[in-house]
Amino acid sequence: MKAVIVRSFGGPEVLEVAEVPTPEPGPGQVRIRVAAAAVNPVDVQTRTGALTAGGLLPKREVIGIGWDVAGVIDEVGSQVAGFRRGDTVIGLSDRLALPLKTQAEHVVLDADAVAAVSADTDLVAAATLPLGGLTAAQALDIAAAKPGDTLLVTGAAGAVGGYTVQLAALAGVRVVAVAGADDEELVRGLGAEFFVPRSADLPAAVRDLVPGGVHTAVDAASVGMLALDGVRSGGSLVSVLGNAPMPLRGIRVSNVWIRADGPRLTELAAVGLRCRVADVLPLDEVAEAHRRLEAGGLRGRLVLVP
Ligand SMILES: NC(=O)c1ccc[n+]([C@@H]2O[C@H](COP(=O)([O-])OP(=O)(O)OC[C@H]3O[C@@H](n4cnc5c(N)ncnc54)[C@H](OP(=O)(O)O)[C@@H]3O)[C@@H](O)[C@H]2O)c1
Repeated sequence: MKAVIVRSFGGPEVLEVAEVPTPEPGPGQVRIRVAAAAVNPVDVQTRTGALTAGGLLPKREVIGIGWDVAGVIDEVGSQVAGFRRGDTVIGLSDRLALPLKTQAEHVVLDADAVAAVSADTDLVAAATLPLGGLTAAQALDIAAAKPGDTLLVTGAAGAVGGYTVQLAALAGVRVVAVAGADDEELVRGLGAEFFVPRSADLPAAVRDLVPGGVHTAVDAASVGMLALDGVRSGGSLVSVLGNAPMPLRGIRVSNVWIRADGPRLTELAAVGLRCRVADVLPLDEVAEAHRRLEAGGLRGRLVLVP
């Protein structure tokens, strides 16, 4: 089968669509025939070596690329309950250093990283949900905002930010979204009550809208201290890049670290979140997808189709 791998770090040209043996599921695992696999910032960070430099990804001879997947189960390992061949699923490959990941014709995942979806699901759109949606849900768990609380979301037009806005609004949390000036309609459509253009003086603009500052923040654009300064004393902030700011003024500062969670993904898929697709490309054009993602300004995910 074909799979996207890297053997060395560098620009998009180090991405290879290699011919590799089709993997077999072990105990507790399923194999998915991939219908769609989204391209995420972590794929770029893997390819460039940024994750290895940051101590997150041990160097290996071959590293597979891709976290998100939507497809159909075509083989089931032993000791798997609840999945059968032919089930339509989405899932998340959350281990960094595997030689084969989701941007491939087939992928093997632990069954507990997989969620069943209905057979008529739009698999291209659904492939954008696992990484962004689960990160948003897990960040909101940490933030622990209550209905009626105010939540600052930076990077609100992105995948993590956009799902955070949607999930928070559904929970009755009042969202202050920070995104590009052209994104106001988009993020309000996702459920944001307030909007701050990213060109603004962030803490001042937030405190104009919410006197005293917001209760909590999910900093999906990693603006750090600027987001923290918009949070009220004793509030909380969740960072997505492991570079959380110092916990000044009694603010509880945490990092979210995504983990695959099939049952939670099943719940998220049932909520009817808006899954945004920027474009669909064949698997062979993975390098072009990286170039476009790195150029910035995409709204929605690029999705590879084997
Ligand atoms: N810790 C974890 O477990 C975890 C999990 C998933 C993702 N992440 C990380 O979280 C980050 C966001 O991921 P993502 O998938 O949401 O990326 P994304 O879809 O590319 O979204 C990032 C968004 O932030 C916007 N942005 C950049 N600078 C901004 C600023 N100063 N103010 C407001 N918005 C700004 C970008 O706009 P432009 O495109 O116009 O620049 C883009 O819309 C990435 O670094 C990713 O690696 C971490």
